Amino acid sequence: MENLISLVNKLQRACTALGDHGEESALPTLWDALPSIAVVGGQSSGKSSVLESVVGKDFLPRGSGIVTRRPLVLQLHRIDEGREYAEFMHLPRKRFTDFAAVRKEISDETDRETGRSTKQISTVPIHLSIYSPNVVNLTLIDLPGLTKVAVEGQPESIVQDIEAMVRSYIEKPNCIILAISPANQDLATSDAIKISREVDPRGERTFGVLTKIDLMDAGTNAVDILEGKAYKLQFPWIGVVNRSQADINKSVDMIAARRREREYFANTPEYKHLTQRMGSEHLGKVLSKHLETVIKSRIPGLQTLISKTIAELEAELSRLGRPIATDTGGKLYMVMEICRTFDQIFKEHLDGTRAGGDK
Ligand code: GDP
Ligand code: NA
Ligand code: MG
Repeated sequence: MENLISLVNKLQRACTALGDHGEESALPTLWDALPSIAVVGGQSSGKSSVLESVVGKDFLPRGSGIVTRRPLVLQLHRIDEGREYAEFMHLPRKRFTDFAAVRKEISDETDRETGRSTKQISTVPIHLSIYSPNVVNLTLIDLPGLTKVAVEGQPESIVQDIEAMVRSYIEKPNCIILAISPANQDLATSDAIKISREVDPRGERTFGVLTKIDLMDAGTNAVDILEGKAYKLQFPWIGVVNRSQADINKSVDMIAARRREREYFANTPEYKHLTQRMGSEHLGKVLSKHLETVIKSRIPGLQTLISKTIAELEAELSRLGRPIATDTGGKLYMVMEICRTFDQIFKEHLDGTRAGGDK
């Protein structure tokens, strides 16, 4: 699995690196064909918290009110060894090894774009890459929360603006949706379910995540939802217990939070029978598995695109004439070599799959 995702991630990186030649080839289409994962839901439903859990790192601004005010496009890159670090696209060459500083830079960069108003949003995404031996290669997107009314200091249009922004990400067929609903609110009012049903009516790429199970009123529980009896989704619901605001204030770390989450499900009688398929770790595994399925189903299409790209590049190269003296020629040649390599790897992988040697 990791090999496959890593392969696709390399391809994504090659596409980014070769962005200049995007319009001349099928590369942007290739990029669009690869899956990403976005979180959607109402404000303070726990989106940023869930995303942090999936990544297994503390680095996102979280809290009550409108904290996430710009889309954050997060690329995770697995490296074989060495110390993990982060890089922002707007700060090339600056390596962050302190993830508290990453969080601060996300806040600062949000303010720069929104003019320091603490309630305005911007559709301009922040691009962040994390390089670590402890992640799988993935693109994740954190989004501002859906709201119902403009509050003091916000333009009247903010409700529609946020909705349009969220929709522009999750309507893409390659986007896997984490629909986040808080368990301490009625599911019938869930913004996450409402919007994800609009863009993915058959629920083929939507995962229902129920947060704040620990905050439900005494005497109530989420069993009906988690068992799919209250609202059925294609994929089973996954319940999580993220860190509370008090935990955040006390800087409770991810490892302690995960242990507590496991204990919570194992020790609450109502949820005991569901323990195996609850929690952030389980969510991470389910997503990996799903990505594998998606990527495998896309390989034949990707292969066709790559063949097309190779053909286009060959035509372009022969137009330029060989040997390649120009920068453009050299770069195109490089792209073609990358594509050929991928073509080869895809073929091998497909052969391996057919032979049952699926690794
Ligand atoms: P977002 O606005 O949807 O991104 O939500 P955040 O991740 O920023 O979380 C909003 C607030 O809810 C923070 O104070 C979190 O600590 C809190 N929170 C999120 N999930 C849970 C949960 O499962 N349990 C508890 N007790 N608090 C949570
Ligand atoms: Na919030
Ligand atoms: Mg957030």
